[in-house]
Amino acid sequence: MDKLIIHGPSKLQGEVQVSRSKNAYLPIIAACLLSDRPVHLFNLPELRDIKTIIQLLQKMGAVISYEGLRTTIDCSKISSYEATYELVKTMRASILVLGPLLGRFKKGHVSLPGGCAIGARPIDIHLKNFEKMGAIINLDSGYVDAKTNGLKGCKLVLSFPSVGATENLMMGAVLAEGETIIENCALEPEIDDLAHFLNKMGAKISGIGTSIIKIIGVKNLKEVEYQAIGDRIEAATYLIAGLITKSLITIRGINPSFLDAVCVCLQEMGAKFKFGDDFIQILEVSHLRAIQVDTSPFPGFPTDVQAQLLTLATQVNGTSIITENIFENRFMHVPELNRLGAKIELKGNSAIVQGPTVLKSAPIMCTDLRASAALVLAALAAEGATEVFRIYHLERGYEKLEQKLRKLGAIIDRASGPAI
Ligand code: EPZ
Repeated sequence: MDKLIIHGPSKLQGEVQVSRSKNAYLPIIAACLLSDRPVHLFNLPELRDIKTIIQLLQKMGAVISYEGLRTTIDCSKISSYEATYELVKTMRASILVLGPLLGRFKKGHVSLPGGCAIGARPIDIHLKNFEKMGAIINLDSGYVDAKTNGLKGCKLVLSFPSVGATENLMMGAVLAEGETIIENCALEPEIDDLAHFLNKMGAKISGIGTSIIKIIGVKNLKEVEYQAIGDRIEAATYLIAGLITKSLITIRGINPSFLDAVCVCLQEMGAKFKFGDDFIQILEVSHLRAIQVDTSPFPGFPTDVQAQLLTLATQVNGTSIITENIFENRFMHVPELNRLGAKIELKGNSAIVQGPTVLKSAPIMCTDLRASAALVLAALAAEGATEVFRIYHLERGYEKLEQKLRKLGAIIDRASGPAI
């Protein structure tokens, strides 16, 4: 198993281009199952999660072809309606095939995702609302066995604005009979992107960007070309890389409005930025101060940036309090950061961070995707050569991370490490 060796403290300069959003492309790829016409997607990021969902579709009979930056997904000859445990266990987002399968084929056999490192992550909101739309759902031998005589539009009120449930139900409603209204839906930019993609295919979705989405069922979808939005979480990670290394870098390929909550928080800490249509440039990085932040659904501060912010908090003046409200087990990076010299105490779902502390290299272990990003940021700031193990977590969500950081000036080596 490979490890990264990051030589710090790093000084970065120049520009970094973010990739297209993994969390936008995962539901978009699942949505290809809705159509018997080809879908052409541009600039799919080379990531393990993207490979997994493509593999899932291939196992169902989808034909995938590549031409330069274009990936074509042809779901005209789907012959299996199953997402097996082998693939679902490696990526929970596999549950997103359920809506398209029920919508087009009226059946689906999808492994229950089970818990994961960051929390229990049930799918009750997905299932309860598919039942309201006319699906009959049985949980059997670790699988969701779902069938229907045809999903029917109705009013759905989500008990929590779940990202995955909003996406799954929206996809299920595209070919359903009549009108579906989803209230209290999630507002994340990836939901809007999915809706724009589906509309380009011929779906009739309105209320995009609001908490009430309306979908009028259609009979057929058409061939379409699409490119997803830039990855806001990757952009936020590089923004924090700039701040933690006190480097005036520019992050390109991102709509800054997707990062309002993150930028407001960083500005409160003392950072200054210049915003363009598709870039954020760091203008001021010195004398950053402590912050109090709670994660919440969009437009609030994203849980996917909590770990990275927490790492930055170890380097600023004062006591920061960072509260995680979305997932119950998302502080696994804390003991690792403390091993580097951070002073972080956990109290319930809050982390109390005393800053600034000098970080010094030590071997550290990745536990999940964003926690791993936080450790890489810490290693950039730490003195000495920090070995980062279990980097396969990073490969799920950060395309060409090493190359991008190297291009910015970081000194990073990859070596094979022990199987820990
Ligand atoms: C999406 O996960 C993202 N994944 C996550 O990104 C992100 O952290 C999360 O949204 C929150 O923003 C993808 O887009 C592929 P949720 P999702 O359903 O859809 C509870 C990353 O690092 N809940 O909004 O699974 C759930 O347990 C990741 O890229 C239920 O109780 O998130 C959690 O506490 C990880 N019942 C909360 O809601 C349900 O049926 C938010 O989950 C569904 C969710």
